Amino acid sequence: MTTPSWSPELYRRALIFAAEAHGAQKVPGSERPYVTHPVEVAAELCAALWLSPVEQPDLAVQCALLHDTVEDTAVRIEEIEARFGGAVARGVAALSKDASLPKEARMVDSLRRIQGEPREVSMVKLADRIVNLAEPPAYWSLEKIEAYRREAIEIAEALGAASAILDARLREKITEYARR
Ligand code: NI
Repeated sequence: MTTPSWSPELYRRALIFAAEAHGAQKVPGSERPYVTHPVEVAAELCAALWLSPVEQPDLAVQCALLHDTVEDTAVRIEEIEARFGGAVARGVAALSKDASLPKEARMVDSLRRIQGEPREVSMVKLADRIVNLAEPPAYWSLEKIEAYRREAIEIAEALGAASAILDARLREKITEYARR
């Protein structure tokens, strides 16, 4: 069964946890509180969920709000599992790059692990990159911007099948990004 609706209570719990975990962190290159980033990702995702319902909207929304807590804060995956359950923890783990790998291998590894999770987790990654293509941080070089755009194409190729809506949104953003 698919349902367009996600639980506001679960959304709130995940949001509060993410806000506390990210604390005083800022979005790179800006003065905005970091937690605005996962909230933007969740908003992008909810817009897609509303137009095209999935089986596990709560999994999608919680993974969106929590997706950077393990990669970027002191939170450990065990804590995510204890508070939000195994499916959310597996999703967040897949969305987190493995810092023990060489830098250039991390994205491919994460994409492979995301593909092993339900489609809702792929949708979070698509929404994350859509949000991140809004504007490159001011200090990025042209080479870095171009590499990020190429990486976005890889993400769309690997995960786009999870959501036609998000795939189309991402490809639109990739095209706009190239015009900078
Ligand atoms: Ni992110």
